[in-house]
Amino acid sequence: MTVTVIVGSQWGDEGKGKITDLLARDMDMVVRYQGGNNAGHTVVIKDKTFKLHLIPSGIFYPNVVCVIGNGVVLDLAGLLGEIKSLRDAGYSLNNLKVSSQAHVIFHYHRDLDAAQEQQHEAGRIGTTNRGIGPCYVDKFNRRGIRVGDLRRSDIFRQKLDWNIKEKSFLLNNFYKLNVNYDIDEIEKEYLGYFDLLKGFVVEESSALVNEVISKNQRILMEGAQGTMLDVDHGTYPYVTSSNPIAGGACIGAGFGPQEIDEVIGVVKAYVTRVGGGPFPTEIIGGQGDDLRERGGEYGTTTGRPRRCGWFDGVVMRHASRINGLTQLAITKLDVLDSFETIKVCAAYERNGSTVKDFPTDISRLEECKPVYEELPGWRQDITKLTDYKQLPTNAKKYLDKLAELSEAKVSLISVGAERGQIIKL
Ligand code: IMP
Repeated sequence: MTVTVIVGSQWGDEGKGKITDLLARDMDMVVRYQGGNNAGHTVVIKDKTFKLHLIPSGIFYPNVVCVIGNGVVLDLAGLLGEIKSLRDAGYSLNNLKVSSQAHVIFHYHRDLDAAQEQQHEAGRIGTTNRGIGPCYVDKFNRRGIRVGDLRRSDIFRQKLDWNIKEKSFLLNNFYKLNVNYDIDEIEKEYLGYFDLLKGFVVEESSALVNEVISKNQRILMEGAQGTMLDVDHGTYPYVTSSNPIAGGACIGAGFGPQEIDEVIGVVKAYVTRVGGGPFPTEIIGGQGDDLRERGGEYGTTTGRPRRCGWFDGVVMRHASRINGLTQLAITKLDVLDSFETIKVCAAYERNGSTVKDFPTDISRLEECKPVYEELPGWRQDITKLTDYKQLPTNAKKYLDKLAELSEAKVSLISVGAERGQIIKL
């Protein structure tokens, strides 16, 4: 087995950090392939909780090389903060590499993100305000500044100058703000960050990845966010600005699709979403609040309360096909321990017809009503179980239903936040 991809199968926050940490132990390399510090991957090791936003969740194993790939957008101050807190906790970070092709987030990206959100009151995306979208816009508009550009102060200055002029014009004249960026200050600030980071920067990160593949060593591709936030295959425009799906790994790390052996879809036993946009199985109040409190469903990055709902089989079938899922890692099953009955959405109903394929046009999606099946709960604490056989019958039936609706097999079940709270099949 060479390349395994870990993807979020819903709207992010499925618990990818824990699954990555678990699998990373047996890997030679872990690569983060898209997104930026909009992500928040939580890893709990004994009594310590680590919240990673940019650094791959394999970082806790010193022999595993952890790469921030070319597909990531980087907040350099955020990255330095993460490096410091991990070093303070005793991790050397000698195993961390940063691609010189990753794009850099600047103040004007964050300002544009905030300005766009303010302007679009009705259709507000509810972004994390980290400047992710505007940074990817520059990348695709071929105006972006990459980590490697900071090595050449003349090139950096020239690119920065153009960007500052363009963004200032937009922010002041279109968004009617009053920004006044000081190019000398920004240049100094970012060259200062680069000075601290340059030891981690690798010129040819895809060569590094392909070297590991050619030696038949094992690589884990760590996706951030989730399939339904994918800019192409999610609930557009209520999505992030990258491709979290498995195919995104090839682009964001730089290797061929034929190298992928396994695609593990991380799936929460229910569904959550932060930010705006359609969410067919959302539960407003009542059991939705119970799920939020029991599951600690507050954003790792922004602290926002997450919207909660029942498991959505239509979303999962979509995720399974788009990603080519070969396995499912079901997380937070224990959060359902106290529920008397649990609903799962098997299909949608729209204008009297059954809809089984996820409608990617949100105006059609908004007309869909979930069709639920109700399953009996198990009403038992499962947080200490480590063997599938010990699981209550109703929990097994629930898992079977999730696998059937997802059209993929379950290989891991997480029953708590700590590393050891896992059932392997
Ligand atoms: P952006 O990625 O900050 O532009 O935000 C776009 C949408 O994606 C918003 O609805 C965010 O709440 C959502 N989002 C971005 N990153 C994450 C994540 O890591 N988990 C869950 N939702 C996210």
